[in-house]
Amino acid sequence: MTTLVIGAGLIGAQVGRILIERGETPVLLDRAAQPGPLAEILDLDRAILATGDILRPLTLVDAIRRHGVTRIVHTAANPMLTLGAQTDPAAAIELNVMGTVNVFETARACGIKRVVVSSSNVLNHFVAGGDGSNDPMRETAWPRPTTFYASTKQTIESLGLNYARWCGIEFAAMRYGAVFGPWSGAGGGGPSNIMREALRKALAGDEAAMPSGAMEWVYSKDAAMATVLALEAADLGPGVFNTTMGALSSPEDMAAALKEAVPGATVRIETPSAAAVSMPDMQAVSDLSAARTYLGFEPQYGLVEGLRDLAGWLKGRE
Ligand SMILES: NC(=O)c1ccc[n+]([C@@H]2O[C@H](COP(=O)([O-])OP(=O)(O)OC[C@H]3O[C@@H](n4cnc5c(N)ncnc54)[C@H](O)[C@@H]3O)[C@@H](O)[C@H]2O)c1
Repeated sequence: MTTLVIGAGLIGAQVGRILIERGETPVLLDRAAQPGPLAEILDLDRAILATGDILRPLTLVDAIRRHGVTRIVHTAANPMLTLGAQTDPAAAIELNVMGTVNVFETARACGIKRVVVSSSNVLNHFVAGGDGSNDPMRETAWPRPTTFYASTKQTIESLGLNYARWCGIEFAAMRYGAVFGPWSGAGGGGPSNIMREALRKALAGDEAAMPSGAMEWVYSKDAAMATVLALEAADLGPGVFNTTMGALSSPEDMAAALKEAVPGATVRIETPSAAAVSMPDMQAVSDLSAARTYLGFEPQYGLVEGLRDLAGWLKGRE
């Protein structure tokens, strides 16, 4: 097995690390790979770094042929996920939707069966409508995403399921919660940067800020493990998998977790300006039963465990 991991950032790096631990030499393909930050997560001598772009499908074909790739994980993304898509919808649609279609078409053309793509739990939260008790004869029957980012994720889930239904692809979409974890490079999404900054401040004895809305988180190592399990699962069942800690964390929960991970920390609750995109609070907990049943996924990190692990990593870099 040789896996092409497209997008070598916060999550892709962890996927690469796990694949190496499983004895593989993964191919990490990125438009602008960051070898320094990657080397802090995985042994670059045991991976292949490739330059490529999902908007230039021949670069994918080249990597697949050159390295004998047999399966694909796709995590390529713009740096500021929801916020970036709200600022420049057309760019997000091009990258998230057309880029992912290029991945599906490349997989088809190259005879690659399994394709695991990154979706998001925003689809469990940032939707409106669904009036009419799902009577499909009514135009208002279906919930619609309320942000451009969520719209792109809904689109790729629908397209992926149809590539599976009609084109022989084995498709899985991972609905990650807000991800945080070790990563010193650019990107990584707004939530991980907020969490890392809060932890840095707490470790330095400064007042830390936690976001003011309830959120569902997942630690990057768990997100990556679920992704690898989706590469390996015998039966992908519904094909879409919630991938979170299995908990909805209020601002007070987040503050308490930081205080438990860093005794003596002082925390205020505030939405930092970088994350200031107007969105509702998350209201409910995503159901992990499909991920448990079909992937055997069980989150290993709650907020406190994740913050402790991340604190250890940050201290190790000093
Ligand atoms: N980070 C989160 O909180 C979060 C939450 C839910 C879902 N997701 C999804 O998970 C996926 C990965 O997120 P992440 O946090 O690891 O992102 P990241 O920004 O850390 O990494 C994405 C990588 O994709 C690369 N990339 C961008 N455009 C590319 C292109 N055209 N071709 C090839 N590579 C390209 C970037 O250079 C970057 O290294 C994304 O699809 C994101 O929407 C992330």
